[in-house]
Amino acid sequence: EYKRPFGVKIDLETGVIPGAKRIVRKLSDMRGYFVDEEAYEKLLREDPVVYEVYAIEQEEREGDLNFATTVLYPGKVGKEFFFTKGHYHAKADRAEIYYALKGKGGMLLQTPEGEAEWIPMEPGTVVYVPPYWAHRTVNTGGEPFVFLAIYPADAGHDYGSIKEKGFSKIVIDEGGEVKIVDNPRWSV
Ligand code: 6PG
Ligand code: NI
Repeated sequence: EYKRPFGVKIDLETGVIPGAKRIVRKLSDMRGYFVDEEAYEKLLREDPVVYEVYAIEQEEREGDLNFATTVLYPGKVGKEFFFTKGHYHAKADRAEIYYALKGKGGMLLQTPEGEAEWIPMEPGTVVYVPPYWAHRTVNTGGEPFVFLAIYPADAGHDYGSIKEKGFSKIVIDEGGEVKIVDNPRWSV
């Protein structure tokens, strides 16, 4: 029995995919992720939505593909721009493709040894996430940053090590400029 093909239209303004599973990540879901804990506690009183994901997912089977949009809202915790939690794939060798649709931001990637890369993203940018690299997106602009991700259906998400240690770099607003700097809390 063949699966049925389908097409869906992404709303390029809002990032919404009709019929997709919606996941909401609020600031309260991200305790411990931001460097400035005082700023985190202060902003927690409002508990803003940091990002939403609209995912069309298949059963976890080798060879099949999932896709999802992410709507990453503008904002900062202290100097640090809003970001997604970030993860390795549970099957660590699974690669991924991102395609930026709206807004401005970038991707932080990192090997298990802590070697980091920053790839700036604007509408039209495609990012190749190689096997084994953790990945986190960051909104460095003033409007929602919207992008599409396409990934193997059996990739899964491994949040553990990023939740504990973060990335070796952080992305901050330094007097109106986007700066990629060493994470003061990073240790290998
Ligand atoms: C994936 C993609 C992507 C990602 C979202 C939210 O593997 O599914 O990388 O859809 O999950 O942008 O980011 P987090 O999963 O890190 O919260
Ligand atoms: Ni991924």
